[in-house]
Amino acid sequence: MSSATRHFLTLLDLGADEARALLHRAIELKRLHAEGVDYRPLQQRTLAMVFEKSSTRTRVSFEAGMVQFGGHALFLSPRDTQLGRGEPIEDSARVLSRMVDAVMIRTFDHDKVERFAAHSRVPVINGLTDRFHPCQLLADMQTYVEHRGDIQGRRVAFVGDGNNMCHSYMNAARLFDFELRVACPEGFEPDADLLAAADGRCKLLREPAEAAQDADLVVTDVWASMGQESEQEDRAAAFARYRVDAEVMAAAKPDALFMHCLPAHRGEEVSAEVIDGPQSVVWDEAENRLHAQKALLELLLVGPPPA
Ligand code: CP
Ligand code: NVA
Repeated sequence: MSSATRHFLTLLDLGADEARALLHRAIELKRLHAEGVDYRPLQQRTLAMVFEKSSTRTRVSFEAGMVQFGGHALFLSPRDTQLGRGEPIEDSARVLSRMVDAVMIRTFDHDKVERFAAHSRVPVINGLTDRFHPCQLLADMQTYVEHRGDIQGRRVAFVGDGNNMCHSYMNAARLFDFELRVACPEGFEPDADLLAAADGRCKLLREPAEAAQDADLVVTDVWASMGQESEQEDRAAAFARYRVDAEVMAAAKPDALFMHCLPAHRGEEVSAEVIDGPQSVVWDEAENRLHAQKALLELLLVGPPPA
């Protein structure tokens, strides 16, 4: 295990300047790709992708990104690997990391990606855990920069569950220096330690419209995350008031953007009018998973691009 191996388990694995540079690099890589420029810095490199939960965007964006970079991505599910038959995560990390150049993991307990990383010789990327979804935030921040410029000093409203997306927005508020207002029902608050660590940049509220007041960006996520399917009915009752609809958007600034990591449930956490409306940038946001993660792979496997 090399102490120099860099992992991306949360947004805070990046420095503030480095994170901003990464967003700009993602925008540049997007342009190069659109222009058909052949840029293959990861020839002969392999990314292993371990998915213990479903995925459309994360899987396709990492796989397409590796192909565009001249490398290869390997999809591994617990159903047909020894991970699903109880092989210790530490042993899997030791073995996989002797064969591939990076590993992306989507799993339940955040502790699992930490344990994997601690025994990996190669960079480990968090493709979503119950606690964080940092790759999504890279795409969200890139999308904000593309549409509105730097997010520093802006106000962001997160409406809904204090979940992995909410936690990653709390980290983003620290890293990119913006104000975050979270509106969630009682009993569904984000982690208190993360809140305390947010250095006053994050405020907890109960009313969606209050959180959205004068916001530059309004964000929401599903009421029941992967792994919480059995709670769906109870959560639907608890979150009934936590829908981003036209009324919530009306409290925000007139040019506020709307984001959602997807998949979305129209009529639950967001109205069709909002997600399919003019303030929504969810399709750019989804596309940017590809470009932002290419910038991340480049940073972790090649190093920062020349200035
Ligand atoms: N937003 C996101 O991570 O989507 P997938 O679950 O489809 O990967
Ligand atoms: N909070 C959601 C995000 C999906 C991308 C989940 O964990 O299922």
